[in-house]
Amino acid sequence: MTLILGLESSCDDSAVALVGSDRRIVAQAVVGQTSAHQPFGGVVPEIAARAHVEILPDLIRRVLNDAGLSVHDVDAVAATAGPGLIGGVMVALLAGKGLALAAGKPLVAVNHLEGHALSPRLADPDLEFPYLLLLVSGGHCQLLEVRGVGDYRRLATTIDDAAGEAFDKAAKLLGLPYPGGPAIEELAKSGDASAVPLPRPLVGSGEPHFSFAGLKSAVQRAVAAGEHAHEGIAASFQQAVVDCLVDRTAVALGKTDAPALVVAGGVAANQAIRGALAALAEREQRRFSVPPAWLCTDNAAMIAWAGAERFAAGLTDPLDAPARARWPLDEQAETVRGAGVKA
Ligand code: KG4
Ligand code: ZN
Repeated sequence: MTLILGLESSCDDSAVALVGSDRRIVAQAVVGQTSAHQPFGGVVPEIAARAHVEILPDLIRRVLNDAGLSVHDVDAVAATAGPGLIGGVMVALLAGKGLALAAGKPLVAVNHLEGHALSPRLADPDLEFPYLLLLVSGGHCQLLEVRGVGDYRRLATTIDDAAGEAFDKAAKLLGLPYPGGPAIEELAKSGDASAVPLPRPLVGSGEPHFSFAGLKSAVQRAVAAGEHAHEGIAASFQQAVVDCLVDRTAVALGKTDAPALVVAGGVAANQAIRGALAALAEREQRRFSVPPAWLCTDNAAMIAWAGAERFAAGLTDPLDAPARARWPLDEQAETVRGAGVKA
């Protein structure tokens, strides 16, 4: 058994976890910054970076204390090295380097997306490679064939907004607080999903790419028209996202023999999305796996776990490993026509 200390600060959550290679979560803590960013309706990079500097050192002490351990007891230190808001990324990475240097432990520089991508294997010991991963978060919306640790083939990405970004923008239009995903899911419970006709961008196209910008514009028009209850708009919007995710994932399943369908990332916390993808997997006779909701949104257990998988594969990093704002999982994937910076 090896024990990994994981550190995360790439967006607006500061997080620390101690995870064993036997999948035991020894201790962990996540401190969000929602209230600091809420007045701005989205994450403000400078505020996030400063908050990580204030929060992370105490959080590391707290998690080690909870476990009754010191950094000398761990086998490696895993820290997110990107992609993300660079000022924030640097906080956990520099803290990780400092701890690794002081305690003479190896450093594992973890790709945040690999954290999400491997998180289902932390929760589900029977999930083996390869699997088709729908990775849906605030910054990313991709379909990836996960072949092994560090071995990814991207089948699709978004040509404009990420799924979580679409939830956040729609929520803002509806006057709901940031982050928009949970707020829309809650409001949608009391709305009629067929109340407002909304587009399903790219549904039916042969390549499994995503697009959400047109859906957001349609929500904007529906809100401006003032004819529909906000509950109905929220429910109709969520249903449109569900339909897009299911259709696009079905196309991707046709392009891989992977026996399992897996969904991860913050948007995978959504119950309607989980249910619809479970049904798709059953129709397509694939095994279905999704981590518990707390493991879908940003946390450090997934970073420690990705660190454990990489450490077991002999993949450690030098102390000058760079912090990266952009870091695709599949470096070979081509840029998709129409794709913005979030590809
Ligand atoms: O993975 P994550 O915590 O951070 C990133 O790496 O981006 O994902 C955050 C995103 C936000 O856009 C948030 O609105 C969305 O995940 N999200 C949800 C839900 N919970 C979080 N979207 C839909 N339904 C939810 N229940
Ligand atoms: Zn994330």
